[in-house]
Amino acid sequence: MVANSDAFGRIGSCIMVYLDYNATTPLDPRVLEGMAPVLTDVFGNPASLQHIHGREAAELVEGARDRVSHAVGARRQEVIFTSGATEAAALGIIGAVLGRAHGRPNVVVAATEHKAVLAAAELAARLCQGVVRTVPVDSCGRLDFEFLDAAVDDSVAVVAIMAANNETGVLTDPVEVAERIRASGAWFFCDSTQSFGKAALDLTDSGIDMLAVSSHKIYGPKGTGALVATRQVRKALVPLAAGGGQEGGLRGGTVDVPAVHGFGLAAELAAKEQAADAVRAGGLVDRLLSGLRSSVSPVLVNSGGAPRLANTVNLRFPGADADAVMARSPGLAVSTGSACQASVPAPSHVLSAMGLDRRGAEESLRVSLGRFSTEADIGRAVAELSLAVSDVRRTAGWEGTDGA
Ligand SMILES: Cc1ncc(COP(=O)(O)O)c(C=O)c1O
Repeated sequence: MVANSDAFGRIGSCIMVYLDYNATTPLDPRVLEGMAPVLTDVFGNPASLQHIHGREAAELVEGARDRVSHAVGARRQEVIFTSGATEAAALGIIGAVLGRAHGRPNVVVAATEHKAVLAAAELAARLCQGVVRTVPVDSCGRLDFEFLDAAVDDSVAVVAIMAANNETGVLTDPVEVAERIRASGAWFFCDSTQSFGKAALDLTDSGIDMLAVSSHKIYGPKGTGALVATRQVRKALVPLAAGGGQEGGLRGGTVDVPAVHGFGLAAELAAKEQAADAVRAGGLVDRLLSGLRSSVSPVLVNSGGAPRLANTVNLRFPGADADAVMARSPGLAVSTGSACQASVPAPSHVLSAMGLDRRGAEESLRVSLGRFSTEADIGRAVAELSLAVSDVRRTAGWEGTDGA
């Protein structure tokens, strides 16, 4: 976080408008308030149950397990705390493929999965002499269900399909995926890192075998998250960090008690406030779009009419390179792709999978709003982006014809 800024990106007297909530969220002050006494007063090791310090810490971890499981509609024993969704994907995908590799060495993923999932799938298949089968998406980012049907058979250990895409917000119904793959016996890993807290989520009777969630996308602390896995999966999972038997023997290492406690509080708030947050965010995104369209048309939405998260919009400004637009918008924090990819000088694999050429991808910006976004933020974003886009188009000598 920028030095001297507060939780919402206000830096001194200069207000920076933060519209990159899909990269990470600020800590909710209510979560901070709950975590503070734990940071100062509870130092016991939750595995040291012989004395009060350990028991006190263990109680907090189990309280967080209750809160997280309740927020996603799971059983408490199904929650395995990890360092975040990347580790949850590694444990869920690699651990499951290793655990059931005999006759099932293959993995199926969507082309638009997060790199955390794609890399875990590649490694799992490599370790077990299997292959990764990649399901394409259409130009709006919607999964090709017929391809999925053909790709999943009894040689597949895990199918990894995300509930919501981090770059476009495009939603895929996990229940439909689960129904379509059920007969194959493959396990369904659903990356819900972006949908948790932004769209309704309930594991009850969903057919999802494994779910990945992350604390820092829901206004909790960074460095914590969970893999939520059914009993059948937990019995087969091979732990990637074996150790002192923590987390049911599936994730060794001393649990970060204050962080996990904060995650639990954030999860409770996410479940409670999800519907209201989505309505607010949707209204603000509509304002942003209409404001931009009335000043710098054409403005394209890369996901077209596909259903998407209310808080997320991936915009293309034909004729305006997105890096140049961002350079001319110093008061705005937006992004050109996922945070982990921002240092990689290649076009977004998500937009490429949707058929955008390099130029189209380079003209695209992700705007993602959150709980603390305001109408004033949107007014400021429209003003800054409009000036920046007009300036970049003018400098590039754009004639206003392509891409529209
Ligand atoms: C869809 C998705 N999956 C996984 C991750 C990785 O999450 P974490 O930072 O908790 O490892 C992210 C983070 O950007 C994400 O957006």
